[in-house]
Amino acid sequence: MRIDILTVVPELLVSPLGESILKRAQAKGLVEIVVHNIRDFTTDKHRQVDDYPFGGEAGMVMMAEPVARAIDSLKAEREYDEVIYTSPDGVRHDQHEANRLSTLGNIMILCGHYKGLDQRIRDTYITREISIGDYVLTGGELAAAVITDSVVRLLPSAIGDEESALTDSFQDDLLAPPLYTRPAEWRGMRVPDVLLSGNFAEIDRWREEQALERTERLRPDLIR
Ligand code: ADE
Repeated sequence: MRIDILTVVPELLVSPLGESILKRAQAKGLVEIVVHNIRDFTTDKHRQVDDYPFGGEAGMVMMAEPVARAIDSLKAEREYDEVIYTSPDGVRHDQHEANRLSTLGNIMILCGHYKGLDQRIRDTYITREISIGDYVLTGGELAAAVITDSVVRLLPSAIGDEESALTDSFQDDLLAPPLYTRPAEWRGMRVPDVLLSGNFAEIDRWREEQALERTERLRPDLIR
């Protein structure tokens, strides 16, 4: 898989993409993640990428031309399954979307910045607009990092224990059951006996019940 990220602040993506599971997934060749600075595609000597909005609103708008040049130059190299724009007005990102994106070959993520992006780019280039929640971030870089992280960890063998991505919260529209590790008794609190029983059928049943109970209590909206 290949993920190209277009941004005006590439520095914001260095550490989220360069550590831990994402770092290892790239080292193993499971994914190639390339961050591009939109300013490199300006013809303007001040490398300006934003301008005042027509109609006199507050804030600045990302200009169409440098963004179009950046997208065109990437599209000249390969075809993209999705050209994503991160924006609070997009569809809400979730595990289903992460699963779907993880099956694609090449995706491009354009990070929104300033007040927003010239609508003509949204109309002509963007195939999907994604929000990571109903709040406004300074820019789309953290959203791009969140989306990328949620996708890359699903790639086969990105996570050491093959099973663990499948048993994540949300993978079956349920929250994950509680987890415990040693010691079996800590400050007077014991791990549920069933987990120490060695009876794996019972343990599976207990985990399912706990997942359902937790989801009903904390996220009833997930249970259709
Ligand atoms: N850019 C600013 N806020 C955002 C959000 N909530 N999701 C995605 N991109 C954003």
